[in-house]
Amino acid sequence: MPSDDLSVDELEGVEPEAPPDVPRDAVLSVRNLHVDFPSDDGPVHAVDNVSFDVFENEIVGIVGESGSGKSVTSMAIMGLLPKRAQISGEVYFRGRALRDLPDKQLRRIRGAKIAMVFQDALTALDPVYTVGAQIAEAITVHDRHIGKADVQDRVVELLRLVGIPNPGHRAKEYPHEFSGGMRQRAMIAMSIANEPDVLIADEPTTALDVTIQAQVLEVMERIQERTNSAIILITHDLGVVAGLADRVMVMYAGRAVETGTVDEIFYSPQHPYTLGLLASLPRLDEDSRRVRLHRIKGQPPSLVHVPSGCAFHPRCQFARLPAPCSTEVPALRAIDDLDHVAACHFSEDVVKVRPDDLKTEAS
Ligand SMILES: Nc1ncnc2c1ncn2[C@@H]1O[C@H](COP(=O)(O)OP(=O)(O)OP(=O)(O)O)[C@@H](O)[C@H]1O
Ligand SMILES: [Mg+2]
Repeated sequence: MPSDDLSVDELEGVEPEAPPDVPRDAVLSVRNLHVDFPSDDGPVHAVDNVSFDVFENEIVGIVGESGSGKSVTSMAIMGLLPKRAQISGEVYFRGRALRDLPDKQLRRIRGAKIAMVFQDALTALDPVYTVGAQIAEAITVHDRHIGKADVQDRVVELLRLVGIPNPGHRAKEYPHEFSGGMRQRAMIAMSIANEPDVLIADEPTTALDVTIQAQVLEVMERIQERTNSAIILITHDLGVVAGLADRVMVMYAGRAVETGTVDEIFYSPQHPYTLGLLASLPRLDEDSRRVRLHRIKGQPPSLVHVPSGCAFHPRCQFARLPAPCSTEVPALRAIDDLDHVAACHFSEDVVKVRPDDLKTEAS
């Protein structure tokens, strides 16, 4: 891979020309993102009209069950989707549409300024190179003027930052000599090698056991405090989001169905799907022998034949059928606070129900 010249300022000469609805102070903005994949049965609507903003210093959680479009959204931001994917919409980095940027600047932004920790990080390290060499490569690919000794210092510092003990020694080891949690940390070290403005972490902990998960999340928190970067944390686990994120976007069947602060999402969910997810989580102060957690009935829909109207209507206890729930796609709208929005025709009813109300007493 060719190195980029350090002297290229990634935004030099590119004036911000974002439309008025893209906040000037957002680091990353996604607008009306659609991604379809062709398939024998017809197009797979993996992402359907998703828009969101990420600001400096914040952690935005993207949650939703398997197949809801979380990874495809991040791959679209990184420009990593296969050619056959049909993509529309815009991604803005500091107010500049990525689409308008020359290749050289785009390469610097994707990878250095917007970095990603992949969902399959445990297999993403190359077995034939030492961990240190792979982190060094991540540094030099975007900074070819840096001296060899400086690179080594950075590698060791990065490994230390992600909590790898004895980093000078561990840098010389191969991935197979690292445990799963250590490899995940090494991947995080690689992704922050260039001090990205935005770090996208796609399920950084799913493959790990609970203790290691907590440690990796702590590492993410530490990185954020130190670098002031913005983090997009993708997970199907609302518990992880509760502990770490500032704001949350809930996805269902490729659409954003609710966005708000962590407190808004957890204490006054306005979308029935969010409510259902919360009701299926155990609470720490709850006696697990007495309480039966909620299960959202049914299965996630096919993304080829997405249910008409609100995609959640076949599973929804609030739905009024056929109209409007199976006839009109609900737009994201606010009930009170403008920043807390949900795509439900009846969010005024949903917000009156607490997740605990959906739990039942165990017999
Ligand atoms: N390269 C691809 N080609 C065809 N379909 C794809 C491709 N990548 C993803 N999809 C489909 O897009 C939909 C959304 O997938 P995505 O990987 O974004 O889900 P996810 O929310 O990340 O799920 P998980 O929690 O399991 O990681 C799925 O139905 C998936 O099968
Ligand atoms: Mg995924």
